[in-house]
Amino acid sequence: MKVKAPGRINIIGEHTDYNDGYVLPFAVNRFVFLSIERSEKYLFCSETMNETVEMDEPKKLNSWTDYIVGVMKSFEKRGYHVPPVRIEVSSNLPVGAGLSSSAAIEVASAFAISEYFGFNLPKLELVKIAREAEVEFVGVRCGIMDQFTSTFGKKDHAIFLDTMTLEYEYVPLKLEGYEIDLVDSNVKHELSSSEYNKRRRECEEILKILGKKSFREIREEELSKLPDTLRKRAQHVLEENKRVLESVEALKKGDFETLGKLLFASHESLRDLYEVSCEETDFIVDFLREKDGILGARMVGGGFGGSVIVLSKKGVFESLKEELFEAYKEQFGIEPSFLQIESTDGVQRV
Ligand code: GLA
Repeated sequence: MKVKAPGRINIIGEHTDYNDGYVLPFAVNRFVFLSIERSEKYLFCSETMNETVEMDEPKKLNSWTDYIVGVMKSFEKRGYHVPPVRIEVSSNLPVGAGLSSSAAIEVASAFAISEYFGFNLPKLELVKIAREAEVEFVGVRCGIMDQFTSTFGKKDHAIFLDTMTLEYEYVPLKLEGYEIDLVDSNVKHELSSSEYNKRRRECEEILKILGKKSFREIREEELSKLPDTLRKRAQHVLEENKRVLESVEALKKGDFETLGKLLFASHESLRDLYEVSCEETDFIVDFLREKDGILGARMVGGGFGGSVIVLSKKGVFESLKEELFEAYKEQFGIEPSFLQIESTDGVQRV
């Protein structure tokens, strides 16, 4: 049996999903493909890595196999034993581009195992299994956005998700005279996962100091009680949540000028308050900010590299690519990549 799970891009709502906040992502037409069949031993084959790994019992190797083994462990925890299987993965989803290839492989594994063995778990349970694999087995304490989007994505729609209640609404992505593009900085700084977990600890500290159970209970007036760094982190989360709500309204009205301004504002906040940006993505955003017809741009995902999402009038971005390519290359000695993306449906059989 073969399945495919898409990556995701987040229009806005960054570092809000582990703070009971709002996000507005969509699934992108880049996938992890995964096939599963019974076997004598546990076999993990990756076309991308050009590697086959054999195990008697699923275990942690600090390698790409952890995403799949982590999912198996999450099934086991719920009382579903996964017997030896041969799992083969391939992908056209760039790793490290901030499109969440890790969530895609987790979701593909969870869906394939559930379908193949007839566990037939509800989709939301698969999202939880996939996320648990990342948090408890891989060790990145991520929120729920990536696994949720890879599972529940819908073509021509973004997902407005409340990560506190898990209520969600599909918002039509009617771009008409506009387009969304992606520039991959082709850098992924080492500190991304350690800094990610550090931000999570800082947010827990904020709740402790303010005596709150959830970020949703925090009022802006209370932020002055926090030490400087924590105040900045909390301010980002509160304002980013507001930006998501405004973006949903703008998208529904087709007001792309407003949406673009919100994207730029989000980037500034991630750079100055949450401090998860880096000079490469800042450079790309600053370059684009100056150009006519570019409505907005910002870093996407956890930060410290990865991609920049760009909202522009149709055709404008194409005419700027070469100049951006040269300017970026001259500055950093690295070539950026440009990805054409479209929204797509969530995990499914192929
Ligand atoms: C990573 C995590 C997500 C989310 C983003 C930041 O992609 O996996 O859960 O926290 O970073 O918004």
